[in-house]
Amino acid sequence: MTIVENALDAPRVIAISSGKGGVGKTFFSVHLAAQAAKQGLKVLLLDADLGLANVDVMLGLSGQGSVKQVVSGEASLKDMLVKAKQGFDVLPGGSGLAELTALSGVQQQVLMNEMQDAAKAYDLVLIDTAAGISDNVLFFVASAESTLVVLTPDPTSLTDAYALIKVLSQQRDVRRFMVTINQADKVDGELTFRRLLSVSDRYLDVHLDYVGHMARHEEVRQAIQKQTLLHHNQAAKDLEKVLQNILNQPRDTSRSSGLQFFWQHSLGQGLNVENHEGAWV
Ligand SMILES: Nc1ncnc2c1ncn2[C@@H]1O[C@H](COP(=O)(O)OP(=O)(O)OP(=O)(O)O)[C@@H](O)[C@H]1O
Ligand SMILES: [Mg+2]
Repeated sequence: MTIVENALDAPRVIAISSGKGGVGKTFFSVHLAAQAAKQGLKVLLLDADLGLANVDVMLGLSGQGSVKQVVSGEASLKDMLVKAKQGFDVLPGGSGLAELTALSGVQQQVLMNEMQDAAKAYDLVLIDTAAGISDNVLFFVASAESTLVVLTPDPTSLTDAYALIKVLSQQRDVRRFMVTINQADKVDGELTFRRLLSVSDRYLDVHLDYVGHMARHEEVRQAIQKQTLLHHNQAAKDLEKVLQNILNQPRDTSRSSGLQFFWQHSLGQGLNVENHEGAWV
């Protein structure tokens, strides 16, 4: 069977990433999971910010298990899942566990096998990664069908998003990215996306799809404080549009044949990263 023939049988896997931290990845991940679940999709959210996990905190979940027991072989991924009341499953990432911040090759393989197996029961698998370009991040993004890059109009967030896209494309052959600009109005969002696009088009062989902006809303901070999700307010409506754009993006049939395929494929990629110093001047 060719990749294209079996592509749509496999669950859709989306990694949510950013260059700079604190830009809203976890906020987008939990709301995307909730919106997809509301539409009847079976959703699994993996907290892949290993060691500094936040998904369970944002959802007000408690539980003993985490990815730690999975990578050590003590438990299967399915046994560590926690149910969010919004109707999706979560694999917590484990907090304060320094040993998880750089998975070994063996641990990656164990986790990949478990993810492959567990993913079969879902329509959509979301992977909320750590910020930056650590090996863990590259591993998770390379295993996904699509990647959502979250950034803000802050110039440091912009340059870090570019760096992430550069490393992923040159080291792991990830060529297509959805981009959302958080904490920005419409004009700032479009401007920021255009800046990212112009440098990426000039120096990288990638394709960027803009899925929209999310304004800064006080309700976001309040919801996070209360460990609840946005509900029936302007912020929720604004966010819903972006999330729907993400869910409406066509499947990438060239990358949807399963997690393991991409991980193994990405290991074979060259490790040369070209330098484009001065790209922003
Ligand atoms: N649209 C928004 N309006 C207001 N505040 C926001 C918005 N988006 C995010 N925030 C604030 O930014 C904080 C960080 O968000 P979040 O934890 O989702 O970021 P992150 O990218 O996952 O961070 P990390 O890199 O640490 O994992 C939130 O606690 C919230 O207070
Ligand atoms: Mg986070």
